[in-house]
Amino acid sequence: MPEEGEVVLKIDRVGLTANNITYAVLGEQMRYWEFFPPEPRGLTADWGLPPLWGFAEVVASAVPEVKTGERVYGYLPPASHLVVRPDRIDDTGFRDASAHRADLPSPYNVYRSTKGDPVYRPEQEDLLILFRPLFYTSFMLADQVADSDFYGAEALVLSSASSKTAYAAALELQGRGPRLIGLTSPGNVAFTRSLGCYDEVVSYDDIGALANVPTGYLDLSGAPATRAALRAHLGDRLVRDVAVGLTSQVPNAAAAGEVFFAPVQMRKRRQDWGRDGLEQRFAEAWQRFAGVASGLIDISVGEGPEELSRVWLEVLDGRTPPRVGHIIRM
Ligand SMILES: NC(=O)c1ccc[n+]([C@@H]2O[C@H](COP(=O)([O-])OP(=O)(O)OC[C@H]3O[C@@H](n4cnc5c(N)ncnc54)[C@H](OP(=O)(O)O)[C@@H]3O)[C@@H](O)[C@H]2O)c1
Repeated sequence: MPEEGEVVLKIDRVGLTANNITYAVLGEQMRYWEFFPPEPRGLTADWGLPPLWGFAEVVASAVPEVKTGERVYGYLPPASHLVVRPDRIDDTGFRDASAHRADLPSPYNVYRSTKGDPVYRPEQEDLLILFRPLFYTSFMLADQVADSDFYGAEALVLSSASSKTAYAAALELQGRGPRLIGLTSPGNVAFTRSLGCYDEVVSYDDIGALANVPTGYLDLSGAPATRAALRAHLGDRLVRDVAVGLTSQVPNAAAAGEVFFAPVQMRKRRQDWGRDGLEQRFAEAWQRFAGVASGLIDISVGEGPEELSRVWLEVLDGRTPPRVGHIIRM
C-alpha cells in the first residue's frame, strides 16, 4: 500500500529503441541511472534500471487528487510497478516529486494523464510510446536549426538517418531550407530512401560523393569514423557539427562542436511562446507527424520481462530493422 503522498503505478506498455540504449551509455554522465535507483531492492551499485517510455495505470493512491484507474504516460523503469509522489497535480497530470528526482531534468519527471493530454488518442498509444519523446526532440531540433538560420548551410547531413529521431527531424525540416542528406548503413539505404524525407541518401561508405558545399552535420550515430570522413571531405565547409545522438554507443559530445539537448530548446521556447503556446505547436506538429509515422513503422508487441530482455539485447546489437518498433506489455 502507498504511504501518504504516494501513488503506485502499474506499468502496462513500454517501448524500446536505440534511445533507451543511449540512456544506459550516458547513464552516469547524464544521470539517467538516478531516475530509478535499484538500491532499495537490495541490488548493488553495479546494477541500473534504464528508463523506458510508456503507459502505466494508477492501481493504488494515497493522494486524493490522483484517482485509481487513471492512465498516465511517462518515464518508467523496466519493472512491474513504480511508486511516485505526485506534485503539481492538474488536469494534464502530475510530476513525481520524489526526493531522488528533484534535481534531475524536469521534463523526465512529468506523468501526463491521458484525460488532459491534447495529443492522446487511444488508437495511437503505441505510436506515442515509441515516438513521443523522439519526435519532441526532432521538433525542437528542427526548430533550433531553423531558428539559427540553418547555420547558413546549403546542406544538412543527418547520420543514422534511418533512426526515428533523424527521420522525424527531416520530416520537420523538409522543404524549409537546405538540402537534406541522410547518411546510413549500406543495409538501411533502401529503407531510408523509401521514407521520402531526404533529398539524398548516402551510405557511410560513400561520404566522398557528397557535394562540397557549406554543410551542417546533425550527428545521431556518434561514429568517430563518420565524423572523421566528413571532416576530411568537407574541411572548413563543415560549418556546424552538432551531437544529437549516439546509436553507435560511442559518446560524441567532446568530438562534436556542440551538443543538442532537447530540454534546453524547450526551456527557450517556453519563455518565447509560453507553456500553452509550446504545447499547442507541439500538438499540431504531432498530429501531422502521427499520420505519416503510422505508415513508416511495423509495430511488434511482445509480452513480459523475458521478452523485454530479449528485445533489449536485439536493439543493443543493432539487429532491429528500422521499420520495426518494439512494444512490450509488462
Ligand atoms: N539529444 C537528445 O535530446 C535526444 C533525444 C532523443 C533521441 N536522441 C538520440 O537519437 C538517437 C536515435 O534514437 P532512436 O530511438 O530514434 O533510434 P532508432 O529509431 O532505434 O534507430 C535505429 C537506427 O540506429 C542505428 N543503430 C541502431 N543500433 C545500432 C548499433 N548497435 N550500432 C550502430 N548503429 C545502430 C541504425 O541506423 P543507421 O544504419 O542509419 O546508422 C538503426 O537503423 C539515439 O542515440 C538517441 O539517444 C537524442
